[in-house]
Amino acid sequence: MTGTGLTAEAPKPVEPAVLGDVPGWFWDLDRHAFDWFLDRQEITGLTGDLLELGAYLGRSAIVLGRHLRDGEKFTVCDLFDSDAPDEENAAEMVMSYRRTLTREAFETNYLAFHDELPTLIQAPTSVLADGRIKAGSCRFVHVDASHLYEHVAGDIQVARAALKPQGVLVLDDYRSAHTPGVAAATWEAVFNHGLRPICLTECKFYGTWGDPEPLQRELLRSSGGADGCHVSTDTIAGQRVLRLGGGPNRSPDFPVSRHHDRIAEQAELLAAEDAAERAAQDLADRRAAAAAARRPATVARKAALDLLPPVFVGALRRARRQD
Ligand SMILES: C[S@@+](CC[C@H](N)C(=O)[O-])C[C@H]1O[C@@H](n2cnc3c(N)ncnc32)[C@H](O)[C@@H]1O
Repeated sequence: MTGTGLTAEAPKPVEPAVLGDVPGWFWDLDRHAFDWFLDRQEITGLTGDLLELGAYLGRSAIVLGRHLRDGEKFTVCDLFDSDAPDEENAAEMVMSYRRTLTREAFETNYLAFHDELPTLIQAPTSVLADGRIKAGSCRFVHVDASHLYEHVAGDIQVARAALKPQGVLVLDDYRSAHTPGVAAATWEAVFNHGLRPICLTECKFYGTWGDPEPLQRELLRSSGGADGCHVSTDTIAGQRVLRLGGGPNRSPDFPVSRHHDRIAEQAELLAAEDAAERAAQDLADRRAAAAAARRPATVARKAALDLLPPVFVGALRRARRQD
C-alpha cells in the first residue's frame, strides 16, 4: 500500500444545507440521467442492488441513495483516507483529493440527506474481484474510482459480474483529455467484452450487457426525458449509440438536507448582525461629521494651529498682521 497523506490537514467536515454544497464532479445532466435510468427501472419493475465505485464526498452517492427501495442494498467502495494500492494511484489521489477527502466527511454529507449510510467498503476497488458483491445482484453500477486503465478495466469486470442482465453500467470520464485510460478501458469493454452502449453524455458512458434498445427507444421518444435535453443518434461499428446533450431546464430540486433550516437561520442571524454593525458604524460616522460641522470656527482654528508645525504658525500670524 502506498500512503497518500490525504488527511494530514483535513478540515473538519462542514454540514451541507443543499446537494450543491457537497463538493464533487456530478453535474445536472448526469444527475438527470441517473434519475431517468433509475426511475425507468422502477417503472419497468427491475429491482436490484446499487453499487458505486468511487464516491469522493458523496455527491453522486447521495443521489443514488434516494433510489434505494425496500429490500435493496447500496454498496459504496472508496479508499477515502486510506492508502492507495500502487504509486500511480497514490499520485492520482494526492493530485485530485488532497486535504479534502475523509470517510468522516463522506458520512457527514450522506447522513445529512439520508437516515442510514450505505454499506461502505473502505478499500481499493480491486478487493471487489473476490466476489463479495453477489453475482447478478445489481441493477445499477457507477464506476468513478481510479481513472487509470488497469483499475478501470478491473472495475468494469467487477461491474459485469455484479450486474443483472438488464442492469445499467455508468463509466465516468470516458472521454476526458486527462483520462485516456478510462477511454481505453471503456471501448475495450465494448469491442471485446460485449458491453453495449446506450447513451453518452459529455462526462459519462451509459451501457448494458443486456438489450439497450428499449431504453434507447424511450430516450428517443421522450427527447432525453426532460425539457432542455436533446438526443441524437450515432452508429459505432454497427451499434447504435445515443448522444444525450443540452441541459435539463431545471433538474428537479433535490430535497434539502436535515441541517438546511438551522443553517439558513444562522445565515440570517449573521446577515442581521452584519447589517446592524454597518448601521451602527454609519450612525457613528454621521454623528461625528455633524459634531465637526457644529464646532465653533475658533475652536477649529485653534485645533488647526495646534496641529500645524510652528514655522507655518509664525508665518500665518505675520501674514495676518500685515492684512
Ligand atoms: C472522481 S472521485 C468520485 C466522484 C464522485 N462519484 C462524485 O460524484 O463526486 C474518485 C474517487 O475514487 C476514489 N478512488 C481512487 N482510486 C481508488 C481505488 N483504487 N479504489 C477505491 N477508490 C478509489 C477516490 O478516493 C475518490 O473518492
